[in-house]
Amino acid sequence: MIFVTGGAGFIGSNFILDWLAQAAAEPVLNIDKLTYAGNPYNLEAVAGDARYAFVQADICDETAIATLLSRYRPRAIVHLAAESHVDRSIHSPDEFIRTNVNGTFNLLNRALHYWSTLPGPEQADFRFLHVSTDEVYGSLEPQSPPFSEDAPYTPNSLYSASKAASDHLVRAYHQTYGLPTLTTNCSNNYGPYHFPEKLIPLVIANALAGNPLPIYGDGMQIRDWLYVTDHCTALRTILAHGATGETYNIGGGNEQTNLHVVHTLCDILDELAARAQGSYRDLITFVKDRPGHDRRYAIDSGKLERTLGWQPAESFQSGIRKTVQWYLANGEWVRQVRSGAYLNWLRQQYGDHPPGALI
Ligand code: NAD
Ligand code: TYD
Repeated sequence: MIFVTGGAGFIGSNFILDWLAQAAAEPVLNIDKLTYAGNPYNLEAVAGDARYAFVQADICDETAIATLLSRYRPRAIVHLAAESHVDRSIHSPDEFIRTNVNGTFNLLNRALHYWSTLPGPEQADFRFLHVSTDEVYGSLEPQSPPFSEDAPYTPNSLYSASKAASDHLVRAYHQTYGLPTLTTNCSNNYGPYHFPEKLIPLVIANALAGNPLPIYGDGMQIRDWLYVTDHCTALRTILAHGATGETYNIGGGNEQTNLHVVHTLCDILDELAARAQGSYRDLITFVKDRPGHDRRYAIDSGKLERTLGWQPAESFQSGIRKTVQWYLANGEWVRQVRSGAYLNWLRQQYGDHPPGALI
């Protein structure tokens, strides 16, 4: 089987759904602490699948991780668990250091102990896939080429600094102990199950509720947007064929200003869920900028495309339309997540055993 950490979050749940949709998929153990961002309900579709299991655990918990490794003997660990929201990292960085740095360290340390006890062939097959972000590379000037794997690390936020630290730890475990690691640095994802604190789901949810659409500063910051299932495909490809010790950048080749993203969302919503009066664009409100706000990210995925043949399937136009359609069809998910009611509901419904839980 494989372990997935953070599998109840946005990318993790998309990854598990995508993984189990493959005919020859190995079973998955989802290890997630269930912070505010973790929602096992995202995985209800596979809760009854014999290949899926869930355990609520903190990646910082040495005993829990060691026990799970020796009991289930995974072939790989796909490490997604993290604190992931830049705005939260500004207000309370402690959890970012604890989970992203100390948690990754604990996972690496336990994985090394486990890996070193494996017989030769299993040792050769084992992989530790560390999922990271393009934000570790810092901010690009308007005319600079996109980030390649050789770009220097210049993180500016507490989030990106904590992810950069975790990337360095992964590299050191490979260089020093030979742990067969893979690292990926991906651009901004969007798609189903995206927690509505991030730009795209927040704008859709606020628009449908008739609330202001907050744009930080002048809205001319640029992000490179990737549809989440394209990220999942890249992770599967890299896990299967990536060279150990290597880093792979993953991006959509879709550089857009925030203002353009919000205009696009408003225009699709005007078409699919028109307001009684006026356009959703009327709700756009410029607010105070984020401190240390990175101006531009852009990713060069050339290495992944050339060496492993990966290509994104979705354009920005097709992916963003699918995303709006998903949120329109899943209003109840958004309402529950925004109200916090889903946490109460989960407790009521499942007690200590969320969908797929190992009992
Ligand atoms: P998310 O915030 O939606 O989900 C994170 C998950 O990790 C949640 O389910 C949470 O409960 C779990 N978690 C948090 N702390 C934990 C702990 N101590 N122990 C166990 N589980 C814990 O995040 P996401 O957007 O799905 O991002 C997943 C990974 O991908 C992160 O490592 C992030 O840095 C990386 N990434 C995200 C993006 C993006 O655009 N969202 C882009 C590139 C890379
Ligand atoms: P976000 O989704 O938080 O991702 P990240 O900061 O990791 O790139 O933000 C994407 C961009 O949108 C970023 O430039 C900040 C901006 N933004 C807003 O303008 N308004 C908002 O309400 C949010 C959440 C983000």
